[in-house]
Amino acid sequence: MKKVTTKTLREMKINGEKIAMLTAYDYTSALIVDNAGVDVILVGDSLGMVMLGYDSTVPVTMEEMVHHTKAVVRGVERALVVFDMPFLSYQTGVRDAILNAGRALKETGCDAVKIEGGIEQKSTIKALVDAGIPVCGHIGLQPQSVNVYGGYVLRGKGEEREKLIADAKAVEEAGAFAVVLEKIPSDLAKEITETLSIPTIGIGAGPFCDGQVLVFHDMLGIFDKFKPKFVKRYAELGKEMRRAISDYVEEVKTGKFPDREHSY
Ligand code: KIV
Ligand code: NA
Repeated sequence: MKKVTTKTLREMKINGEKIAMLTAYDYTSALIVDNAGVDVILVGDSLGMVMLGYDSTVPVTMEEMVHHTKAVVRGVERALVVFDMPFLSYQTGVRDAILNAGRALKETGCDAVKIEGGIEQKSTIKALVDAGIPVCGHIGLQPQSVNVYGGYVLRGKGEEREKLIADAKAVEEAGAFAVVLEKIPSDLAKEITETLSIPTIGIGAGPFCDGQVLVFHDMLGIFDKFKPKFVKRYAELGKEMRRAISDYVEEVKTGKFPDREHSY
């Protein structure tokens, strides 16, 4: 099985082959995701919400990201593994960004990092790439800035459209190998995708991107308290897990399990 590289992704865009990206946060799920043919595994800072129970991605630390990414890398043979740089690990300057992203590469064995921001992060992205660290950009809705916007609102509408196009160009010019477009109108994502030579990966960005990313727990229905419009559930595993676990509780309480078949 040939390992996916940033070069593979570039070629996929040229050949019009869509890129499937999905998050994973631990060894066992990474095994399953990699095996199913996902091209890029993102160890998203969304782990703060779905794995750790924070109410945003803001509290996530480098330690937490390193811990989870090490586990994911142990489960992956084929997919490109991207380490999502957490809040304050790169916004404080180029030197901090290089030290933290370099640490991610050295300690976890990941293949690349992702940082949120367009024009504002152009010099940081360039410095990381110059240091030998592949970078995936992330523009549009930037969840680490939730406190500035007061919610997870659609971006790139009206006057903001030109800013988003400029952000996309800045990320490409800085040397990023791909860019995530989050929660922007489909026609804007289409224009950005046609303008850039690097692949665009959409989430809530419509059907015209070069690839797609979703959160593991969302698309499997494991996290099912609410469902944003852009999430498609390919299974209802939350329901299935609750059923299985309550069956187990019932059987333990009634003495039905363990039975002879499961005993020595
Ligand atoms: O943290 C994450 O899962 C992400 C994706 C939603 C792009 O950044
Ligand atoms: Na993220």
